[in-house]
Amino acid sequence: MSKIIFIREAGNYTGEEVTIQGWIYGKRSSGKIHFYLLRDGTGIMQAVAVQNELTQEIFNLFEELTQESSVKVTGILRADKRAPGGCEMTIKDIQPVNLAQEYPISRKEHGIEFLMDHRHLWLRSQRQQSIMKIRATIIKSVRDFLDSNGFLLIDAPILTPAACEGTTTLFETDYFDRKAYLSQSGQLYMEAAAMAFGRVYCFGPTFRAEKSKTRRHLMEFWMVEPEMAYCELEDNLKVQEEMICYIVAEVLKKHKADLEILERDIAPLEKITPPFPRVSYDECVKLLKEGGLPFEWGGDFGAPDETFLTEKIDKPIFVHRFPTKIKAFYMKPDPENPEVALCADMLAPEGYGEIIGGGQRADDIAYLEEQIKKHGLPQDAYNWYLDLRRYGSVPHGGFGLGIERIISWICKLEHVREAIPFPRMLSRLNP
Ligand code: 4AD
Ligand code: MG
Repeated sequence: MSKIIFIREAGNYTGEEVTIQGWIYGKRSSGKIHFYLLRDGTGIMQAVAVQNELTQEIFNLFEELTQESSVKVTGILRADKRAPGGCEMTIKDIQPVNLAQEYPISRKEHGIEFLMDHRHLWLRSQRQQSIMKIRATIIKSVRDFLDSNGFLLIDAPILTPAACEGTTTLFETDYFDRKAYLSQSGQLYMEAAAMAFGRVYCFGPTFRAEKSKTRRHLMEFWMVEPEMAYCELEDNLKVQEEMICYIVAEVLKKHKADLEILERDIAPLEKITPPFPRVSYDECVKLLKEGGLPFEWGGDFGAPDETFLTEKIDKPIFVHRFPTKIKAFYMKPDPENPEVALCADMLAPEGYGEIIGGGQRADDIAYLEEQIKKHGLPQDAYNWYLDLRRYGSVPHGGFGLGIERIISWICKLEHVREAIPFPRMLSRLNP
């Protein structure tokens, strides 16, 4: 048996006989020569079967080898600049592993619901593979950035006794003889961890029963949530813009080919450098009104508002100081104007809207008690949280970056459902 290699590393083996273990991605024939496209998860390679160089048995496998049949293919690698991946194989042997039944996903256009129903198979397509590989790099670069900037990874629980981001989007579950909720955010636990370790972050799935159908909302999404002790709003924003620039640079460095498959114009991504503009909510209201949008002070931005605000700027922007009353209970009011909170959302360019939400946390215990009441939250469940203000409270803040949101922007996806392997949406729990 020859050496088994991955397609990704084929360039190192030109002139040698190797075996690829993969699947038939496509095939065509000119009669005397059959052309296969092989995929193995690391890349795609053309493999050529020439009639007078093979036994009739192996040459005729062409008829049987349907799309997505699994095969072990052995042959000699040749460098070929025109070939995808720079290499082509001249086949010496083919061992079928499993002959695939008629594959439901073909080259023709399929409707999105059909593709979503076949998500478990759709993941094999080149476009979906590029997105998933970029997703992995985004997650790795977030973690590399935080790990090398003094943040400690602290895992937050998934089963929680109370809400972090409002009671309207809670997923409830039985917890023996009481109720528990799937975590909407690890933030409150990160605040505890920040008081223990200084700079921390969690990274994990979060859950929200969002009853609206939009291009940006999933019921289950992944969020990274850094939290910093002794941190004011401006320090917080600096970490955010540095992190985003690092992520974009890493994707540009490692995924030119994938971005090309996605037909993603990289020129806008190359402009993502610090600093990002900071615009107050008040200024935004003015801009929206001048732009003719029906927006009143005190409202929350909808997708058209966010698109309008970011249209003319080619970097992400920070919108800061939203009205306190439309934000979560834990936000610190601005001492200079308590009507607004010391918070900021980062809006991505190209119409992608909010990718980060964050800010300063309230430290006044009486204020927090009042907010917990006002928001109709169960006081018992927050007593531990108030301890953080009782024992050595310090100015602190953090933020949450939605992984699928930043993937959608960087890959320029039409809908966030393609940014996660198995999306959970309002009307979809399958596959
Ligand atoms: O703005 P959000 O609700 O903020 C928080 O959860 C804070 N506790 C974070 C923190 O300060 N530690 O959510 C943060 C981010 C949003 O900016 C967005 O990117 C993403 O999470 N997000 C969603 N992504 C996909 N589907 C949804 N339903 C999302 N809801 C929020
Ligand atoms: Mg938000």
